[in-house]
Amino acid sequence: MQPGEPACRIRPMQAGDIKQVMEIERESFPSMWSRTTYDRELKNKLARYLVAYAPLPGGALPLPNDAPPPETGIIATIRETLKRIVTRSSPPRERILGLVGLWCMVGEGHIVTIAVRQDNRRRGIGELLLVAILEAALEAGQDGVTLEYRISNRDARALYDKYGFSQVGVRARYYSDNQEDAVLMSTPPLRSSVYQKLIALRVDEQRSRWGEAYPLSGSLTRLTSPLSSR
Ligand SMILES: CC(C)(COP(=O)(O)OP(=O)(O)OC[C@H]1O[C@@H](n2cnc3c(N)ncnc32)[C@H](O)[C@@H]1OP(=O)(O)O)[C@@H](O)C(=O)NCCC(=O)NCCS
Repeated sequence: MQPGEPACRIRPMQAGDIKQVMEIERESFPSMWSRTTYDRELKNKLARYLVAYAPLPGGALPLPNDAPPPETGIIATIRETLKRIVTRSSPPRERILGLVGLWCMVGEGHIVTIAVRQDNRRRGIGELLLVAILEAALEAGQDGVTLEYRISNRDARALYDKYGFSQVGVRARYYSDNQEDAVLMSTPPLRSSVYQKLIALRVDEQRSRWGEAYPLSGSLTRLTSPLSSR
């Protein structure tokens, strides 16, 4: 992690995250899932959704640059308190930086979404989310994980290559908005020693990048890379 960059933690997605998740969706995908879809997905017992987040100092979202200055004084305080009582909501205490979702099928998990806020890309957050969801797939008893991506999406392809996914097929004109092909990819068996060695290597790299701030602590992150014993 570079000095001055926000910390990053990972936890299950909650209903209160959906508003920020949709902001990330909007800047990441040509077509978006609706709020209702997310509400439904969070109740789906066969799905797992995780978010990467940074705690906000003071627990409030930063204002956009063009927002009017905040009101101060007793009237503003009363108005804010009433608003919270009415909406039963409190200001977000975290900035959501990314999300990932998995559907658990019979023996095989399918990553249905992964995205990182534009202003936080290339920090290694996509990798953290990917390892965390592979961990969730293992915990859910999945043998392997599949996904699909738009054939033009080179960034996503580079990420999946790095994590040992291999191409298993192409669905012609799969995406209805622009008739783009989907490429299908799949991991080797998650419990195979060859795959666990690859993940151990990647986790070693992640640890040295994040140092003390490394946020994952599941069984995959306890794997030992052959290089780490040198
Ligand atoms: C794909 C995405 C999730 C990657 O997230 P990220 O946090 O920026 O990725 P990371 O910083 O963890 O990068 C991990 C690896 O992915 C690859 N990668 C990611 N972005 C890349 C880019 N712009 N160019 C080349 N490689 C890239 C690299 O292999 C990188 O490893 P490296 O840093 O050692 O080169 C992000 O670009 C995104 O949200 N894109 C829009 C949504 C999307 O396309 N999702 C995938 C749908 S299938």
